Amino acid sequence: MAGQNVDSTRADDAQVIAQVCKGLEQVVLKGRTFDWLRSRQSTALASPQHQDLMYGTVRHFLSLRQQISQYLAKPLRNKDHDLEMLLLVGAYQLEFSRRPAHAVVNNTVNACRPLGKPWARGLINGVLRKILRNAEPRATTTTNNPQWLIEKISQQYPNEAAALLHANDQRAPMVLRVNSSKISAVDYCAELRAQQIPFALSEPNAAIVLTTPQPAASLPGWADGQIAVQELSAQFPANIVLQNIPPHIDSPVLFDACCAPGGKLYQLHELLCKRYASHQLVGNDKSPNRLEETLKIGQRLGHSDDCKIVLRNLDATLPDTTTQESFDVVIVDAPCSGSGTIRRNPDIRLLLQPEQIPEQQSLQLALLFNLWRGLKQGGTLLYSTCSVFDEENDLVIEQFVREHSDAHIQPLQLPLGAATKFGWQMLPSEPTTDGFYYALIHKAQM
Ligand SMILES: C[S@@+](CC[C@H](N)C(=O)[O-])C[C@H]1O[C@@H](n2cnc3c(N)ncnc32)[C@H](O)[C@@H]1O
Repeated sequence: MAGQNVDSTRADDAQVIAQVCKGLEQVVLKGRTFDWLRSRQSTALASPQHQDLMYGTVRHFLSLRQQISQYLAKPLRNKDHDLEMLLLVGAYQLEFSRRPAHAVVNNTVNACRPLGKPWARGLINGVLRKILRNAEPRATTTTNNPQWLIEKISQQYPNEAAALLHANDQRAPMVLRVNSSKISAVDYCAELRAQQIPFALSEPNAAIVLTTPQPAASLPGWADGQIAVQELSAQFPANIVLQNIPPHIDSPVLFDACCAPGGKLYQLHELLCKRYASHQLVGNDKSPNRLEETLKIGQRLGHSDDCKIVLRNLDATLPDTTTQESFDVVIVDAPCSGSGTIRRNPDIRLLLQPEQIPEQQSLQLALLFNLWRGLKQGGTLLYSTCSVFDEENDLVIEQFVREHSDAHIQPLQLPLGAATKFGWQMLPSEPTTDGFYYALIHKAQM
């Protein structure tokens, strides 16, 4: 009986590894993002074990690929890309997992069968054993960033480049936001302590940084919507907005133009509910699938039946997205390269191409130019990205204010990060934050 259990575990492990190899092929050969795989319910991300292998292998992809190429007598055939992925997954586990090396080698070799290539067992076994024999401590200077990104970051951040590139190779911290309409931060922290889940508190508003990431659904109060997982730098925009609503407005009307999946939207709603007897928050997004996800998250948080939030599905670059001067606040949490979130979304390092950055910039400017018309005179627009590139941040704002005489930059002062010419930048080399940019623009009364 015990023997049967061991055999079925081996088969399961081999099956998981084979599914991960198929997922990696989608990313590496077809340019699919992890989000795309998730939206198709890909088995490659089906469990925490799958996710560890996918995220870890992609995070260290470039150096692992270099490593295995040294031990392959000749390059693999094009139709054997799955075997290259298999070697990468094996090499990742040998270097970064706590599993015994013999178990890693056996499971990886056994994955040849579900991949339909039992003939490759000897090849996989041979390469992994060579890696084991030649294992050396990894040089601390190794980075897994593509060359163009290394050059770009070094140029823009000559002093911080090494720390920034190193940060890209780390695991991201897991940060929680307490849903203040369900429970106070003090009470939620007591729940965490009772369950012996270690954490630290951070600004803004007692954001909770877990010492060790864990599946969100295993956290206390998750199903009841007491918390949301929300990266620390993404918790600042709602607070910035709240602090900049003029005191004479007692029922603010706000437009979150790119709201999905709703992290900042729902946080803002919770903060508004605490301060105002009434408000109207319109959340919009171009993607129906992401809006669907927003709706589900709203249901879990207990906000979906609240008529103070309305969801819309419009392309916010189009003129009819908002009526002229109808909002006190417009939030443009713009689509961007995601270059500030590479440690959280490691697939970006493989998929982002430098020529996509000007395309993102054009879209960001189109959004700003269009949405500015919907902002009331005297109102405030918050622009944000999760990018560290100037082209998507200060250079966008510079062009925008140059072409709008009624646009005036409002200086920002936040507890983490640093001021830029037009806004504020957080970097992923701060241990708790992702790379994030904010700029606040006031619309003059004419
Ligand atoms: C950075 S994400 C927004 C994250 C969101 N604010 C949050 O806090 O959860 C950018 C969003 O912009 C949306 N988007 C992209 N192009 C758009 C457009 N032309 N109009 C409206 N939304 C757009 C994307 O679908 C994506 O959901």
